[in-house]
Amino acid sequence: MNKSLQAEIIGTGSAVPERILYNRDLEKIVDTSDEWIVSRSGIHERHVTDRDTATSDLATEAARKALQEARVSPQDVDMIIIGTATPDRVFPSTACFVQDHLGAVNAAPMDVSAACSGFLYGLTLGRGMIASGLYRTILVSGAETLTKITDYQDRGTCVLFGDAAGAALLRGTDADRGILQSYLGGNGSLWHLLEMPAGGSRHPASHETVDKRMHYIRMAGNEVFKYAVKAMGDAALKVLQQAGLTADDVDLMIPHQANIRIIRATAKRIHLPMERVYVNIDRYGNTSAASIPLALDEARRKGLHKPGDIWLLVAFGGGFTWGSAIIRW
Ligand code: ACO
Repeated sequence: MNKSLQAEIIGTGSAVPERILYNRDLEKIVDTSDEWIVSRSGIHERHVTDRDTATSDLATEAARKALQEARVSPQDVDMIIIGTATPDRVFPSTACFVQDHLGAVNAAPMDVSAACSGFLYGLTLGRGMIASGLYRTILVSGAETLTKITDYQDRGTCVLFGDAAGAALLRGTDADRGILQSYLGGNGSLWHLLEMPAGGSRHPASHETVDKRMHYIRMAGNEVFKYAVKAMGDAALKVLQQAGLTADDVDLMIPHQANIRIIRATAKRIHLPMERVYVNIDRYGNTSAASIPLALDEARRKGLHKPGDIWLLVAFGGGFTWGSAIIRW
């Protein structure tokens, strides 16, 4: 039997809408303050889409940049996986629109629903497809327009979210680099702590669901916070252990950017100094599934990835879901 291939990232890209919503803008919408938002979340500003822009538009831009960097033509992509909680439509999948926009006519398109962990779920799925020998070149994206389902009457959530997309192009390699290990988990019994109640088969859209504001994100922030700190720390330690590594081996951690306090607590839990943690939540807020690939692309474009470097990715999201991965460059 052939040795199974490892998946390596050969290109990344990202996209954010132009318009920026500052904390001072939110002060005019809800009873909040720049001081509260910065001290409780670390967020200063976030990017917000206009009415005409959908998730697939951002995902397509991010994907084009990843393909460009890797010098791979859209026709050579075997599969497109989009992690998103804000698809263009319930169906067809957002990946179908991205396939069409790119002209990736040979790709199998699919979405993954794992909220903020969507990119790591997609990455793990892509890695498995490549290792199995089924596909060679896979585009994985995390893309969201969370502000479209954000309730701007709820100060507990509306200050947190922003819109973005990120993408990574995976290709099989027999070299000793790429995604060395990945780990996924979840706890579906806690679904009610973070959800968008209506629009699916449990509560189809109706006048009542609209009147009751059920098409917006609802979150028990404090409970999510506590669980996120534990689950992200556990997921980071688990994948390190599976890879036979410790935090000392990690050159850079890219955590899901939900709250600077969750990021600091996760770093502390695994004994990783903050100098080796990538943070951009101040500029983008929580962009859900897009946050890790957006940060990954930023860090790579800064040239932070030196050959042999070990990066740790770790996410947590609604479901609850969580995931982690180790990359060697
Ligand atoms: N401005 C001012 N005051 C506020 C605001 C606001 N924007 N929002 C809440 N408050 C008030 C509350 O009403 C409360 O007041 P009270 O004590 O008088 O009742 C007080 O601030 C404290 O509220 P908490 O919710 O306890 O504040 P906390 O320190 O937990 O911070 C936050 C809230 C930022 C939401 C935090 O809980 C958090 O980050 N949670 C996790 C979010 C997350 O990780 N989500 C997962 C991924 S998202 C996804 O999957 C789509």
